[in-house]
Amino acid sequence: MNLRQLFLRHVAQTSEAPLAIDASHAEGIYIHTLSGQKLIDLISGIAVSSLGHSNPKIVNAVKEQAEKYMHLMVYGEYVEQPQVLLASKLASILPENLQSVYFTNSGAEATEGALKLAKRASGRSEILYFKNSYHGSTMGALSVMGDEYFKRNFRPLIPDCRMLLYNDFDALKSISTKTAAVIVEAVQGEAGVVKAAPGFLQSLEKHCKAAGALLILDEIQTGMGRTGSMFRFETEKISPDILLLAKAFGGGMPLGAFVSSKHLMQKLQHDPFLGHITSFGGHPVSCAAALASLEFLLENHLVEQVEKKGQVFEDLLQDAKIKKINRVGLMMALEFSSFEENKKIIDQCLKNGLISDWFLFNNSSMRIAPPLVISTEEIHLSCEIILKSIHEVV
Ligand SMILES: Cc1ncc(COP(=O)(O)O)c(C=O)c1O
Repeated sequence: MNLRQLFLRHVAQTSEAPLAIDASHAEGIYIHTLSGQKLIDLISGIAVSSLGHSNPKIVNAVKEQAEKYMHLMVYGEYVEQPQVLLASKLASILPENLQSVYFTNSGAEATEGALKLAKRASGRSEILYFKNSYHGSTMGALSVMGDEYFKRNFRPLIPDCRMLLYNDFDALKSISTKTAAVIVEAVQGEAGVVKAAPGFLQSLEKHCKAAGALLILDEIQTGMGRTGSMFRFETEKISPDILLLAKAFGGGMPLGAFVSSKHLMQKLQHDPFLGHITSFGGHPVSCAAALASLEFLLENHLVEQVEKKGQVFEDLLQDAKIKKINRVGLMMALEFSSFEENKKIIDQCLKNGLISDWFLFNNSSMRIAPPLVISTEEIHLSCEIILKSIHEVV
């Protein structure tokens, strides 16, 4: 049996048609396959490998940490240097009310931790979320997912979770003293890069404050510079009570975090003690990679270049066959007339050497989320392939 057959037989898939790209190695924006193809990775494993594949600074940090120690103890018990340095560095670029970092394994676990913290701290049970939101695939995160198709066969989910319409200012009036928290994406990724309407997140913050409800801001996809500011809340001028990070945060290693004030986070220390437990969250090798990644991002002033690079994409992709471009920084959705058309174009892009994707809740749009290190030349090359592919199949 060849590798592909073994993959299909023994590696569980939840998609009937996996891409099955057989990677041999990856570098910068490229993934090389065992059969000798060189593919442009225009989605970064869904906004994860933001600093390019095999970024030497991150690889070195991983090697150095692995040689010192890997796993020692469940999270939060030992003083592990990579965790301390990363949490401190992160805190140095976050506001005063976000100085306590709980490291998790993934984005979904960050969501779970935040929901638990909100319930524990408020003594309330109601969680509000938005239509077309995505916060992960575990039971808690699924309970606040804004799409019924993905939820219905897993019910019953967590009670007291209620959906509001994104960008509906009136709906915010239903935030009340029963509400433990409202969870929201800074930009709705899986909806097809849908921005918050001007003032919507500020209004949400105001309503939360008035009702004593916590604002959980999911920056798992938007964080670490993807939208052109380090965190989207800076641009939106809001101050969440709990911030969620994952994806690019780990520099390509599995890592997430929920971040809050020390005062709030301490609620997880009693009644019950050990209010959230994880064996692998904050793995020293992941934290070393994340620290190197954050340093690389800052040292190379990459965030400042994101908007300009995004604009180059947008300018080059002006084409009558693309119905609409939704873009925030280097987070982009190209809308076509149907799923069928979109799929044909995505498949053709792959044949022509470029990896893209569609969105969970918007399958007529093509996803573009390249590594932030992509060069202008590489953007030109990518857009040429996309336009060529469109004109070959539409
Ligand atoms: C906005 C958002 N939140 C949460 C998650 C879940 O993260 P993970 O896949 O690490 O569980 C994702 C993943 O796509 C995401 O885009």
